[in-house]
Amino acid sequence: NGGMTVAIDGPAAAGKGTVAKAVATHFGFAHLDTGLLYRAVAAKTLKGMDPEEAARTLAPVDLEDPSLRDPDVAQEASKVAVIPAVRAALVRFQRSFATRAGGAVLDGRDIGTVICPDAPVKLFITASPEVRAQRRFAELSGKGIEITYEIVLDDVKQRDMRDMSRDQAPLKPAADAKQIDTTEMAIEDAVAAAVALVEAKQ
Ligand code: C5P
Repeated sequence: NGGMTVAIDGPAAAGKGTVAKAVATHFGFAHLDTGLLYRAVAAKTLKGMDPEEAARTLAPVDLEDPSLRDPDVAQEASKVAVIPAVRAALVRFQRSFATRAGGAVLDGRDIGTVICPDAPVKLFITASPEVRAQRRFAELSGKGIEITYEIVLDDVKQRDMRDMSRDQAPLKPAADAKQIDTTEMAIEDAVAAAVALVEAKQ
Protein backbone atom coordinates (compact mmCIF):
# COMPACT_ATOMS: atom_id res chain seq x y z
CA ASN A 1 0.00 0.00 0.00
CA GLY A 2 2.25 2.81 -1.23
CA GLY A 3 1.65 6.39 -0.15
CA MET A 4 0.55 8.95 -2.69
CA THR A 5 -0.88 12.45 -2.90
CA VAL A 6 -4.60 12.84 -3.51
CA ALA A 7 -5.71 16.37 -4.48
CA ILE A 8 -9.36 17.27 -3.92
CA ASP A 9 -10.72 20.67 -4.92
CA GLY A 10 -14.10 22.30 -5.28
CA PRO A 11 -16.38 25.04 -3.96
CA ALA A 12 -17.66 25.26 -0.37
CA ALA A 13 -19.87 22.44 0.92
CA ALA A 14 -19.68 20.32 -2.25
CA GLY A 15 -18.67 17.29 -0.17
CA LYS A 16 -14.91 17.45 -0.64
CA GLY A 17 -14.17 17.34 3.08
CA THR A 18 -16.28 14.22 3.55
CA VAL A 19 -14.70 12.51 0.54
CA ALA A 20 -11.19 13.55 1.63
CA LYS A 21 -11.67 12.16 5.15
CA ALA A 22 -13.14 8.90 3.88
CA VAL A 23 -10.33 8.36 1.35
CA ALA A 24 -7.71 9.12 4.01
CA THR A 25 -9.29 6.65 6.44
CA HIS A 26 -9.67 3.97 3.76
CA PHE A 27 -6.01 4.07 2.69
CA GLY A 28 -4.44 5.17 5.98
CA PHE A 29 -3.29 8.48 4.47
CA ALA A 30 -2.98 11.73 6.43
CA HIS A 31 -5.60 14.40 5.68
CA LEU A 32 -5.23 18.19 5.53
CA ASP A 33 -8.24 20.50 5.17
CA THR A 34 -6.38 23.46 3.65
CA GLY A 35 -9.39 25.76 4.10
CA LEU A 36 -8.56 25.66 7.80
CA LEU A 37 -5.26 27.44 7.09
CA TYR A 38 -7.06 30.36 5.46
CA ARG A 39 -9.72 30.35 8.18
CA ALA A 40 -7.02 30.45 10.88
CA VAL A 41 -5.40 33.46 9.17
CA ALA A 42 -8.85 35.09 8.96
CA ALA A 43 -9.56 34.52 12.65
CA LYS A 44 -6.41 36.53 13.38
CA THR A 45 -7.07 39.36 10.92
CA LEU A 46 -10.58 39.70 12.40
CA LYS A 47 -8.76 40.45 15.67
CA GLY A 48 -6.68 43.11 13.92
CA MET A 49 -3.52 41.27 12.85
CA ASP A 50 -1.89 42.01 9.50
CA PRO A 51 -2.83 39.19 7.04
CA GLU A 52 0.71 38.44 5.84
CA GLU A 53 2.01 38.42 9.41
CA ALA A 54 -0.84 36.10 10.44
CA ALA A 55 0.01 33.68 7.61
CA ARG A 56 3.75 33.73 8.32
CA THR A 57 3.31 33.05 12.04
CA LEU A 58 0.56 30.42 11.77
CA ALA A 59 1.04 27.55 14.25
CA PRO A 60 -0.67 24.13 14.54
CA VAL A 61 -2.57 25.24 17.65
CA ASP A 62 -4.26 28.00 15.58
CA LEU A 63 -6.04 25.30 13.57
CA GLU A 64 -7.89 24.19 16.70
CA ASP A 65 -9.68 27.51 17.30
CA PRO A 66 -13.39 26.55 17.63
CA SER A 67 -14.52 29.77 15.89
CA LEU A 68 -12.98 28.68 12.57
CA ARG A 69 -16.31 27.16 11.41
CA ASP A 70 -18.20 30.44 11.81
CA PRO A 71 -19.62 31.93 8.59
CA ASP A 72 -18.01 35.33 9.23
CA VAL A 73 -14.61 33.64 9.48
CA ALA A 74 -15.34 31.84 6.17
CA GLN A 75 -16.11 35.15 4.44
CA GLU A 76 -12.97 36.74 5.85
CA ALA A 77 -10.98 33.64 4.79
CA SER A 78 -11.99 34.16 1.16
CA LYS A 79 -10.87 37.80 1.45
CA VAL A 80 -7.41 37.04 2.89
CA ALA A 81 -7.10 34.21 0.33
CA VAL A 82 -6.84 36.73 -2.55
CA ILE A 83 -3.64 38.22 -1.07
CA PRO A 84 -0.61 36.71 -2.88
CA ALA A 85 1.71 37.04 0.18
CA VAL A 86 -0.79 35.11 2.31
CA ARG A 87 -1.01 32.26 -0.23
CA ALA A 88 2.79 32.20 -0.66
CA ALA A 89 3.34 31.89 3.10
CA LEU A 90 1.16 28.75 3.22
CA VAL A 91 2.65 26.87 0.24
CA ARG A 92 5.62 25.19 1.91
CA PHE A 93 3.61 23.69 4.77
CA GLN A 94 1.03 22.27 2.34
CA ARG A 95 3.67 20.79 -0.01
CA SER A 96 5.60 19.12 2.77
CA PHE A 97 2.35 17.68 4.15
CA ALA A 98 1.49 16.40 0.64
CA THR A 99 4.74 14.52 0.20
CA ARG A 100 4.80 12.66 3.54
CA ALA A 101 5.79 9.04 3.14
CA GLY A 102 2.53 7.41 4.24
CA GLY A 103 0.38 9.23 1.68
CA ALA A 104 -1.73 12.37 2.01
CA VAL A 105 -5.10 13.74 0.99
CA LEU A 106 -5.39 17.53 0.73
CA ASP A 107 -8.64 19.31 0.06
CA GLY A 108 -9.05 22.96 -0.92
CA ARG A 109 -9.36 25.19 -3.98
CA ASP A 110 -5.93 25.07 -5.65
CA ILE A 111 -4.45 21.71 -4.65
CA GLY A 112 -4.54 20.10 -8.11
CA THR A 113 -3.66 23.32 -9.94
CA VAL A 114 -0.98 25.00 -7.75
CA ILE A 115 -0.02 23.13 -4.58
CA CYS A 116 0.31 19.58 -6.00
CA PRO A 117 0.22 19.83 -9.81
CA ASP A 118 1.85 16.38 -10.05
CA ALA A 119 -0.62 14.56 -7.78
CA PRO A 120 -1.49 11.19 -9.39
CA VAL A 121 -5.14 11.52 -8.34
CA LYS A 122 -7.06 14.78 -8.69
CA LEU A 123 -10.74 15.24 -8.01
CA PHE A 124 -12.92 18.29 -8.55
CA ILE A 125 -16.11 17.97 -6.53
CA THR A 126 -19.04 20.24 -7.32
CA ALA A 127 -22.76 20.60 -6.60
CA SER A 128 -25.35 23.29 -7.26
CA PRO A 129 -25.13 26.37 -4.99
CA GLU A 130 -28.62 25.60 -3.59
CA VAL A 131 -27.73 22.04 -2.60
CA ARG A 132 -24.43 23.16 -1.09
CA ALA A 133 -26.15 25.93 0.88
CA GLN A 134 -28.76 23.45 2.12
CA ARG A 135 -26.02 21.08 3.36
CA ARG A 136 -24.03 23.84 5.01
CA PHE A 137 -27.21 25.27 6.59
CA ALA A 138 -28.05 21.85 8.08
CA GLU A 139 -24.49 21.46 9.36
CA LEU A 140 -24.37 24.91 10.99
CA SER A 141 -27.87 24.53 12.48
CA GLY A 142 -26.84 21.15 13.86
CA LYS A 143 -23.98 22.84 15.64
CA GLY A 144 -26.37 25.32 17.23
CA ILE A 145 -25.27 28.25 15.05
CA GLU A 146 -28.29 30.51 14.40
CA ILE A 147 -28.49 31.36 10.72
CA THR A 148 -30.98 31.26 7.85
CA TYR A 149 -30.77 29.28 4.60
CA GLU A 150 -30.87 32.55 2.62
CA ILE A 151 -27.83 33.94 4.42
CA VAL A 152 -25.91 30.69 3.89
CA LEU A 153 -26.81 30.68 0.17
CA ASP A 154 -25.65 34.27 -0.14
CA ASP A 155 -22.40 33.45 1.67
CA VAL A 156 -21.73 30.44 -0.59
CA LYS A 157 -22.36 32.46 -3.77
CA GLN A 158 -20.19 35.38 -2.65
CA ARG A 159 -17.31 33.09 -1.75
CA ASP A 160 -17.63 31.15 -5.04
CA MET A 161 -17.43 34.43 -6.93
CA ARG A 162 -14.40 35.67 -4.99
CA ASP A 163 -12.63 32.29 -5.18
CA MET A 164 -13.21 31.88 -8.94
CA SER A 165 -12.36 35.42 -9.99
CA ARG A 166 -9.12 36.07 -8.07
CA ASP A 167 -5.86 36.41 -10.03
CA GLN A 168 -3.80 33.94 -7.99
CA ALA A 169 -4.77 30.30 -7.75
CA PRO A 170 -8.43 30.79 -8.69
CA LEU A 171 -10.88 27.96 -8.01
CA LYS A 172 -10.99 25.85 -11.17
CA PRO A 173 -10.54 22.18 -12.07
CA ALA A 174 -7.05 21.06 -13.07
CA ALA A 175 -6.99 19.89 -16.70
CA ASP A 176 -6.45 16.30 -15.51
CA ALA A 177 -8.95 16.35 -12.63
CA LYS A 178 -11.85 13.91 -12.51
CA GLN A 179 -15.05 15.89 -11.92
CA ILE A 180 -17.71 14.57 -9.58
CA ASP A 181 -21.05 16.39 -9.30
CA THR A 182 -22.72 15.53 -5.98
CA THR A 183 -25.93 17.53 -6.56
CA GLU A 184 -27.99 14.36 -6.94
CA MET A 185 -25.43 11.82 -5.81
CA ALA A 186 -25.29 10.14 -2.41
CA ILE A 187 -22.04 11.04 -0.72
CA GLU A 188 -21.22 7.31 -0.34
CA ASP A 189 -21.19 7.05 -4.15
CA ALA A 190 -18.78 9.97 -4.42
CA VAL A 191 -16.55 8.28 -1.82
CA ALA A 192 -16.68 4.98 -3.72
CA ALA A 193 -15.73 6.72 -6.98
CA ALA A 194 -12.79 8.44 -5.26
CA VAL A 195 -11.58 5.21 -3.62
CA ALA A 196 -11.72 3.42 -6.99
CA LEU A 197 -9.61 6.16 -8.61
CA VAL A 198 -6.94 5.90 -5.93
CA GLU A 199 -6.95 2.09 -6.13
CA ALA A 200 -6.44 2.25 -9.89
CA LYS A 201 -3.22 4.26 -9.34
CA GLN A 202 -1.73 1.98 -6.68
O1 C5P B 1 -12.77 25.17 2.39
P1 C5P B 1 -13.21 26.34 3.23
O2 C5P B 1 -14.62 26.73 3.00
O3 C5P B 1 -12.90 26.12 4.68
O4 C5P B 1 -12.27 27.54 2.76
C1 C5P B 1 -12.44 28.86 3.24
C2 C5P B 1 -11.87 29.84 2.20
O5 C5P B 1 -10.45 29.67 2.14
C3 C5P B 1 -12.36 29.61 0.78
O6 C5P B 1 -13.55 30.30 0.48
C4 C5P B 1 -11.18 30.10 -0.06
O7 C5P B 1 -11.27 31.49 -0.30
C5 C5P B 1 -9.98 29.86 0.81
N1 C5P B 1 -9.18 28.71 0.37
C6 C5P B 1 -8.27 28.89 -0.65
N2 C5P B 1 -7.46 27.87 -1.05
C7 C5P B 1 -7.55 26.66 -0.47
C8 C5P B 1 -8.50 26.43 0.56
C9 C5P B 1 -9.32 27.49 0.96
O8 C5P B 1 -8.19 29.99 -1.21
N3 C5P B 1 -6.73 25.69 -0.86
